[in-house]
Amino acid sequence: MTPDTADSVTPVITQIPNAAVVQRLNKRLGRRKGWKPFYQRLLQHGERLRSELSALYGDLDDFDAIVERLLTTAFECWSERPEVLRQRDAEREAQPDWFQSNTLLGGVCYVDLYAGDLKGLEARIPELQELGLSYLHLMPPYLCPEPHNDGGYAVSSYRDVKRSLGTMADLQRLAERLREAGISLVLDFVFNHTSDEHEWAQAARAGDPECSGYYYLFPDRTLPDQYERTVREIFPDEHPGAFSQLADGRWVWTTFHSYQWDLNYGNPEVFRAMAGEMLRIANLGVEFLRMDAVAFVWKRLGTPCENLPEAHHLLRAYNALARIAAPSLLFKSEAIVHPDDVVSYISPEECQVSYNPLQMALLWNSLATREVNMLQLALEERHALPPGTAWVNYVRSHDDIGWTFADEDAARLGINGFDHRQFLNRFFVNRFEGSFARGVPFQDNPATGDCRISGTAASLCGFEQVDVHAAARLLLLYGVALSSGGIPLIYLGDELAQTNDYAYVHEDGKAEDSRWVHRPRYDAEAGARRHDPSTPQGRVYAGLRHLIALRRHLPVLAGGQLTPFWTHNRAVLGYVRGDVGSGHAPERLLVLANFSEDEQHIAAGVLSALPGQATDLIAATGHRLAQGLTLQPYQMMWLALPQR
Ligand code: GLC
Ligand code: GLC
Repeated sequence: MTPDTADSVTPVITQIPNAAVVQRLNKRLGRRKGWKPFYQRLLQHGERLRSELSALYGDLDDFDAIVERLLTTAFECWSERPEVLRQRDAEREAQPDWFQSNTLLGGVCYVDLYAGDLKGLEARIPELQELGLSYLHLMPPYLCPEPHNDGGYAVSSYRDVKRSLGTMADLQRLAERLREAGISLVLDFVFNHTSDEHEWAQAARAGDPECSGYYYLFPDRTLPDQYERTVREIFPDEHPGAFSQLADGRWVWTTFHSYQWDLNYGNPEVFRAMAGEMLRIANLGVEFLRMDAVAFVWKRLGTPCENLPEAHHLLRAYNALARIAAPSLLFKSEAIVHPDDVVSYISPEECQVSYNPLQMALLWNSLATREVNMLQLALEERHALPPGTAWVNYVRSHDDIGWTFADEDAARLGINGFDHRQFLNRFFVNRFEGSFARGVPFQDNPATGDCRISGTAASLCGFEQVDVHAAARLLLLYGVALSSGGIPLIYLGDELAQTNDYAYVHEDGKAEDSRWVHRPRYDAEAGARRHDPSTPQGRVYAGLRHLIALRRHLPVLAGGQLTPFWTHNRAVLGYVRGDVGSGHAPERLLVLANFSEDEQHIAAGVLSALPGQATDLIAATGHRLAQGLTLQPYQMMWLALPQR
């Protein structure tokens, strides 16, 4: 990836179809500071950018002018990019697979709920380090309407922070402190919509023609009715369908809440303006941008308006722009959709990393059923990713848990997807005899039978009642996230087994949304007990820290390559990490996880192809595999297999 030298520039340029645009830019901006490296990257990635844009806007008469305006915006952002980030760019370019490391570990939190404000969070960096974090996702801190803002996902300005959190300068300083502490900052790019208080939305509401073209506004129900024949409802509790009516009678596209107006990317100016916002966010020192709601960003009549090919062109165009103007910026895809669609967003040219909602949902499924069949199948068939990409493996997020497994996969195991989802919903909202889970329904839709689950990991694992297995369940789920490859992500609070916070029902702007039940304020008293192993918090904290510390010293857990290991025991998940001959010690790690409250045995025959001796690194015990293996209730083993 060495930049072209000046001498090699000329031959390349003649191959670029937009040579005229590049030359015009060169002429206009060529003397500006920072132009040279920008220009070199443009030569490397400009063609890709142009071809993605051409798939979206190539039919427009002024296409070249569109590209030129976009690149001008990108250059402005590049010229503002701080020197220290340019150095970081060079480092990351020299080691593009840095995020595959077994030392990368993520955490996520709301600034206000976890630490009060940005300064408060800065003060808690040592605690983040104590846990071993090297990646921190802050839920959107941007300016947003009060009190209704979907937890910050209704952005009124991408250039200001919520006043209650502090100032942009505070965010900047926090970013620097995190960088110094070896923690990569992760922020959202909420680019499917803005809030209805964004200046563009306000101007559109007032009738400004230019800004009206930024959104999907309709004079009457004619088109909305046609679209609604094929689009699904995301937040049916708040408004049916996908549109909301304005005071003047017009209708606006609102996939999520009525105060979240979908942006119209059919308009190239929207792409340009949002690209500028994206690159400015990158200039704060963000290393992963969480690409919010990627599935929804392009609409076409007669389709579900999800996962359209244009959504991919759009992301790849953003990706190419990032390579040019903020090279160390990586994208994390948030696509909580069918597993085939989830992977469609993952590639080095699109989103380098992605949430793994399938693994997340199936972890919970296995806890409920005490059977690992669906999870094992997912590891077998849906875990492998292209080189240069990685999963973000998580146990739960700030959002609900949706049962996004593929019905086809379930059917192969004799499971009816619809019925099974009904069972899972009953199980996790404690309408199933004997369930340990205390979840709350989210967007229960009687019309479709659809429902999702809210609840903290601890409450779903059984911490709300006296249940001897609750801690082991929580550690089991995190143990899989920590050992199955990619970037593990901890929802902060889970390390202290924080349970549901039912008080959200009294808070304005939160009461109607049950996801707030699993977004509790940081519990300082629980935090104070984290080093006391006689408390439940202390046990979970110590258990998690132990796994994290082990992982840090196991290069075999880097990357995402994994081989499923069928244990021939319905309740025990198995997989092997690492290759023979990788040169690392241990060469291979066999992970076994018992998803039931009963002791489980793995027959010797199943283990016969493995070396005779193995050490479980978690319990630090040696095992003779010729005798088979016994796992205690919810026990996990990380068995180091010596080279034979
Ligand atoms: C994403 C967020 C979710 C939000 C939605 C709309 O899915 O994770 O919290 O409600 O986008 O922005
Ligand atoms: C996301 C998902 C949807 C999820 C919602 C937030 O974009 O696509 O399934 O439930 O937004 O809750």
